[in-house]
Amino acid sequence: MDTLHSPTPTMKESSFLRTLPLAPKDPILGVTEAFQADPNGRKVNLGVGVYTDGQGRLPLLHCVAQAEDRLNQLKSARGYLPIDGLNRYNLAVQKLVFGSHSPALQSGRLVTAQSLGGTGGLKLGADFLRRFHPESEVWISDPSWENHRALFEAAGFTVKTYPYYDPETHGLDFAGLLHTLEQAPSGTIVVLHACCHNPSGVDMRPEQWADVRELVADRGLIPFLDLAYQGFAQGTEADAAAVREFAEMDIPVLVANSFSKSFSLYGERVGALTVVCHDRDEALRVQSQLRRVIRTNYSNPPSHGALIVATVLEDETLTALWEDELGAMRLRIKTMRHALVEQLKSRLPEDDFSFVAEQQGMFSFSGLTLAQVHRLRQEFSIYAVDSGRICVAALNDQNLSAVVEAIACVVRT
Ligand code: LMR
Repeated sequence: MDTLHSPTPTMKESSFLRTLPLAPKDPILGVTEAFQADPNGRKVNLGVGVYTDGQGRLPLLHCVAQAEDRLNQLKSARGYLPIDGLNRYNLAVQKLVFGSHSPALQSGRLVTAQSLGGTGGLKLGADFLRRFHPESEVWISDPSWENHRALFEAAGFTVKTYPYYDPETHGLDFAGLLHTLEQAPSGTIVVLHACCHNPSGVDMRPEQWADVRELVADRGLIPFLDLAYQGFAQGTEADAAAVREFAEMDIPVLVANSFSKSFSLYGERVGALTVVCHDRDEALRVQSQLRRVIRTNYSNPPSHGALIVATVLEDETLTALWEDELGAMRLRIKTMRHALVEQLKSRLPEDDFSFVAEQQGMFSFSGLTLAQVHRLRQEFSIYAVDSGRICVAALNDQNLSAVVEAIACVVRT
């Protein structure tokens, strides 16, 4: 008997697992899986949004190492955190994201819950909204981070899009954005990228944010801001401007933020959800319900990453060191953008890639087609997301020429 291919005797023919369809690979993390399986020693992963240094290594920030040294000396036992996370951490998040002098913070209108990365913050917010605002739709930008649609659909929402990126100009389709959001029914949840729009790298200017805020207030929309890249555009203060302006409008606002990239703490899953409320009483009720959402999902969050971030942000010297290290990451990415544009210009003088230097954050929406992305992968072991998004933060002096040669080859032939 062919034991390998016969069903085990205990497995019932009717088991639901027998007909379970295979799920598609994740559009971003699936690229990493394919990259890891590739034996080519010269492979380059421009898929996932992860910063690597000039030598292609994932950095352990000095501020993080120093915070860990301090924590190790304490040799603390590991009890449960409160359901909504470490209080010190949640306060540090509020100060960093909303500013220490934020009127919303000072009047007790902010509710923050530690989350499993920025994605966890979005998911908490999505589950919370689905319980208490179930009739609304969620509108995301076109294009958006691949996981936005999947995450909000998984929470039970219908997800629609509003125009954002114009491939013709490589810029913002602001007229399309305004026109479409003007049609959104009152109560629609609008997901906005607070800075470093993922995947396009195209951000709104301050006066455009002001128009969006006015529209959101006029139409009674609910803004849900995704702040995964604070510090990667202009700096931690400037990058939080959109969030801070929304927080003072006296409308419900949700903000998911992440320290995966800014602290290079990807695997620790450190993020938060903050809900901006009308007053302290509302905040207490929101907090009680968020705690229910968390308790029925994963009970309470892990402590290590939150302790690191709180230790850094509570200490002036460590915070200054962190700002320096974050600034260096930001600068290196910008330098690589310019180097990429320069090298592409010399290899493909008839094509204009200058827009890459204008984009913000880790990514560039390169304009490469699906067929070109697949050729990069198959012929050169260079991995990008199918949308054409490349992670500029993974470029360095050692891999840049190979990437440029490969792009030139797939664009020309
Ligand atoms: C990305 O967009 O590559 C990152 O945010 C990582 C992720 O979880 O998708």
